[in-house]
Amino acid sequence: MPRRRLKKYIRKCCCMVFIVLVIFLFYVGYMFQSGRCSTDISLHKISDICERYRRGEIAGSFCQPLCEDKTLHFIKCVNYRDGKTVMFMTCDKCISEETFEIVFKMKWNFDAERLLYVPYIEDETYKQFIENAESLVKDSLKLSHYPFSDGEDILSFAWNWDFNKFVKNQKSKLEASKIAVDSVLSLISQSEYAMSKMLYNYTFIPKIYGSCGPAYFVEKTPTLSQYEFEFFKSFSYERWKERARVAVRLIELMEKLRTFKQDLHLCDMKLDNFGIRNNGEITLIDTDSCFFNNGLMEQFKYSDCTKHSDCDFFDCRGLCDVTSSKCFIKRSNNNMQALCEDAFIGYTPKLPSGLLRDPPGEIKVQLFQLLQECSFPTSGEYVRHTSRDYAIDKTVNELRELLYQSLYEQ
Ligand SMILES: Nc1ncnc2c1ncn2[C@@H]1O[C@H](COP(=O)(O)OP(=O)(O)O)[C@@H](O)[C@H]1O
Ligand SMILES: [Mg+2]
Repeated sequence: MPRRRLKKYIRKCCCMVFIVLVIFLFYVGYMFQSGRCSTDISLHKISDICERYRRGEIAGSFCQPLCEDKTLHFIKCVNYRDGKTVMFMTCDKCISEETFEIVFKMKWNFDAERLLYVPYIEDETYKQFIENAESLVKDSLKLSHYPFSDGEDILSFAWNWDFNKFVKNQKSKLEASKIAVDSVLSLISQSEYAMSKMLYNYTFIPKIYGSCGPAYFVEKTPTLSQYEFEFFKSFSYERWKERARVAVRLIELMEKLRTFKQDLHLCDMKLDNFGIRNNGEITLIDTDSCFFNNGLMEQFKYSDCTKHSDCDFFDCRGLCDVTSSKCFIKRSNNNMQALCEDAFIGYTPKLPSGLLRDPPGEIKVQLFQLLQECSFPTSGEYVRHTSRDYAIDKTVNELRELLYQSLYEQ
């Protein structure tokens, strides 16, 4: 065989081997993902909840549809990571006349976790018990932007169900209130549920439809990971514009999070933790690693370190005071820096994976420059996990402007 043809042949073979390898790796990845949770275990978890409901240990607005009416149907589980159970379900006429998909969420281990304790003294009156429970709930949701006024029914608000009506319909008012309070407390002690309640009136929070004990049911939205990796697709202006529009919405969301009394820090920044509604609104579907400023500072307060990375709390990076071997009580990067690095560029800068990959030719150079300034503000290099700096407003404004422009071209 002539040398040139041989070379071509070898190149072709290498390509084939590479493609087969990639497919194999995806397959292994998929098996690993799906191995993380199983239908059997999920169904067992549901029947365990229903058993507890029937024994009268837990209550909630969705116990009846889940356990009695069977209008909630399991579709598949998504994960059990860190004790968090996430399942997709359909709901027949339990919210409206239609059937639609919802998400079951619960970060609760019945065997290991004890419910928060509301002191109950033998001769305590029903009124006293409720007052104690209310103040506990108020304390837990103390950062709330929801103005609780005197006489407001905070237990129903926290539970997403009419507390008084539930109690009134049971034989023993006090017994029923204890069950209901336990269920409310099990919900609000889960950081994601508490965050949803604290910020319930913001559009970026998925709607909560109901609960059963510590399990709660939320609005399902496709995640932004749908925009990651698009192999074998050539450039299309339409697809780019869709991604650019999402990127602008994400920038706006980061700005919104700076307008609260305390900044809200997103410490697990990835496309899979954002959802998108049909109308383009972005949602925060995983707020387990979201902290208001005081909460994040608490994380830094008690950490010992020998190097900066010891102070990192996922994407919320810290700084080590090497003289005292303690972390500074300060976040060194900001949400926008993490967004550019982890969502816009993506985890594999060399592979096209982030939301703003593969831009139109005319903005390529400028976009690359701005993403670099935003993600790695001082290093000036395309190197991951070294940035402990803020993405500055000027860069972010230029980035947004560039994205806007590209939306109106072609
Ligand atoms: N409200 C939701 N809508 C759609 N998908 C969701 C929703 N909540 C969770 N998921 C899916 O389940 C996955 C795991 O849920 P998540 O809350 O992110 O758990 P974890 O803390 O383990 O990352 C998400 O990455 C997403 O794919
Ligand atoms: Mg997540």
